[in-house]
Amino acid sequence: MVFLSKLVASLVAVSVASVKAGTILWDGSFTAYPNSSTFDQWSWGNQVGQYQWYIHGSQPTSRYLAVDSSYKNPAATKEARGLKMTIDSSALWNGQTMARTELIPQTKANLGTGTQYYHFSMMRSNTNPPNFQTEHQINFFESHALEFKIGVGGTTNLQWFAGGSSRWSTPWTAGTWYNFAYEINFSSNTAALWASTGGAALTKVTSNISVTVSTNSADWHLGVLRVQGSGVTSDFYFSGVYIESGSITTAIGSGVTTPEPTQPEPTSQEPTQEPTPTSTATGPAQTQWGQCGGIGYTGPVACAGSFKCVKLNDFYSQCQ
Ligand SMILES: *[C@@H]1O[C@H](CO)[C@@H](O)[C@H](O)[C@H]1NC(C)=O
Ligand SMILES: *[C@@H]1O[C@H](CO)[C@@H](O)[C@H](O)[C@H]1NC(C)=O
Ligand SMILES: *[C@@H]1O[C@H](CO)[C@@H](O)[C@H](O)[C@H]1NC(C)=O
Repeated sequence: MVFLSKLVASLVAVSVASVKAGTILWDGSFTAYPNSSTFDQWSWGNQVGQYQWYIHGSQPTSRYLAVDSSYKNPAATKEARGLKMTIDSSALWNGQTMARTELIPQTKANLGTGTQYYHFSMMRSNTNPPNFQTEHQINFFESHALEFKIGVGGTTNLQWFAGGSSRWSTPWTAGTWYNFAYEINFSSNTAALWASTGGAALTKVTSNISVTVSTNSADWHLGVLRVQGSGVTSDFYFSGVYIESGSITTAIGSGVTTPEPTQPEPTSQEPTQEPTPTSTATGPAQTQWGQCGGIGYTGPVACAGSFKCVKLNDFYSQCQ
């Protein structure tokens, strides 16, 4: 027991020490998902990739999830593709009567400690639009401490809820990308919302709100729960999904795959060049969080510096 608690204490010390400004804790980019079948590689017995995929209806995955370069925020230049997520009358999960299509981070990272920023961009179209008369819960924690909603409170706005109260809202215009980050301080139990549209940098749009948010790192749902299972087929688009600690990355498209420092480096300290690997590999080395392998991949396979190429699934390996 003493040994174990010492081990835990040292692990905590290491993880705290390694948290820097803009450190990506979990990368939910769909660059790792060349087609909807890739989501099916995940199962309870084979927990691979960046997403758990079990909250969905009875039809094949392609009915609920589709990936394409046209489904991302064009400002997310470092991502290959975005996600189209669909709910329809078949999207009933586990005997429930609500329509649900939801992805959950697959990670060993602690997504519930210190101050973290949960980033995502979302869009809706006039094709298969949501029914704004029906309650939908979007990108929510299982506790519903933080979430977006439509179809509640007599408004057709997209509303951000913290602690069960609407704190911020916007009309949800079709074809416009809305970028968000949930700022969550798990130590002080406060949260705030950052928002922008298109390629504009995120700005903080609420004050810090007292709300008890805790997570086991596997109960934040990227997806949509429609309270009524019956009803129209609706599509929702997502890209730019990642979670970081340290200070927030406000630039859209810069936080995923190859994060850049959010603060300018002091000019007296020139960043040192990463040493070129001494292997026979030619061409550039991939930077941290960049792709370094996978079926169909033709880019750099060597990782810069001390980063290692880690296989996430058959289609995607990443420098970490
Ligand atoms: C998914 O993508 C991979 C890699 O491009 C390919 O090998 C596989 O056949 C694709 N699966 C489907 C169902 O399209
Ligand atoms: C709000 O919370 C964030 C994250 O904990 C913190 O960095 C910031 O200083 C807080 N702002 C105010 C005005 O307290
Ligand atoms: C989060 O809250 C804790 C406790 O109030 C505080 O010490 C810490 O500075 C906050 N984090 C940030 C980034 O402001």
